[in-house]
Amino acid sequence: MSRKIIIDTDPGQDDAVAILLALASPELEVLALTAVAGNVPLALTERNARQIVQLSGHQTPVYAGCDAPLKRKLVTAEYVHGRSGLDGIPLPDPTHPLQAEHAVDYLIDTLRREPSGSITLCPLGPLTNIATAFQRAPDIIPRVAEIVLMGGAYFEVGNVTPAAEFNIYVDPEAADIVFKSGVPLVVMPLDVTHKALTSREWVEEMRALGTPVGQAVASWTDFFERFDTAKYGSQGAPLHDPCVIAYLLEPALFSGRHVNVEIETGSELTLGMTVADWWRVTGREPNAMFMGGVDRDGFYRLLTERLARL
Ligand code: RIB
Ligand code: CA
Repeated sequence: MSRKIIIDTDPGQDDAVAILLALASPELEVLALTAVAGNVPLALTERNARQIVQLSGHQTPVYAGCDAPLKRKLVTAEYVHGRSGLDGIPLPDPTHPLQAEHAVDYLIDTLRREPSGSITLCPLGPLTNIATAFQRAPDIIPRVAEIVLMGGAYFEVGNVTPAAEFNIYVDPEAADIVFKSGVPLVVMPLDVTHKALTSREWVEEMRALGTPVGQAVASWTDFFERFDTAKYGSQGAPLHDPCVIAYLLEPALFSGRHVNVEIETGSELTLGMTVADWWRVTGREPNAMFMGGVDRDGFYRLLTERLARL
């Protein structure tokens, strides 16, 4: 029996690899992609999501959601992902249709319709769609089985400010709603994604697959690696979002701690910081499995084996 998931996403080359990994894995039933504004504006993230589904050969429905954070101006990341959000390889214009229903309505309707506890939400971008659905229909919150998300940073500190990771920083109020919702949370922060670095060998393995997916993944990686290697002086770049899907497939690849995590929404200096009570000094109720370790080679072995199936 495959696990039903909805991927909320702001593609983003790393989102694209995560989506392809999910679509290649029979353990998962991807009910839909819900696009959110983040790396690039919504008009591009929904278009990119449709292009990725088309590249996979699947028919997964794509919904467009919120085009701006709950209370703030949208901050984007073209400097990392390029103007299109999927720079690296030209893809055909998408013919895969966009669903008419708003992604937030889709999330509410689906969580009300499907059996309670049967759906896992996998946010890979700012949490605006999820938070909006929870605000509009609080009755769906206890019906969510689990949220496995990419976002936050604690020991690794921020990537968009000294204190904050991009997905949380873009919409800290949305993140606050999700982290206080009471839904079981598994968080993949930069602490773990910065240990899941690509390598030349792996990129060449992708290219050697000789498939459109292998070529796209190699070209996307070549493109988005340039920013992180220049900034951090690292060999290779972090594949953030695929950590979420890899966890669903092989949780033993990851290690972390169940702690309290709260979101800074007041201070301009540390806005969007995920304050993880790693040493349990506050007595605040643990609300998140906050990951810190990954078997990097096992992660890439899984990625290669699955992407080769598309
Ligand atoms: O900070 C990394 C996160 O921000 C990733 O999800 C990336 O795709 C961007 O959304
Ligand atoms: Ca993302």
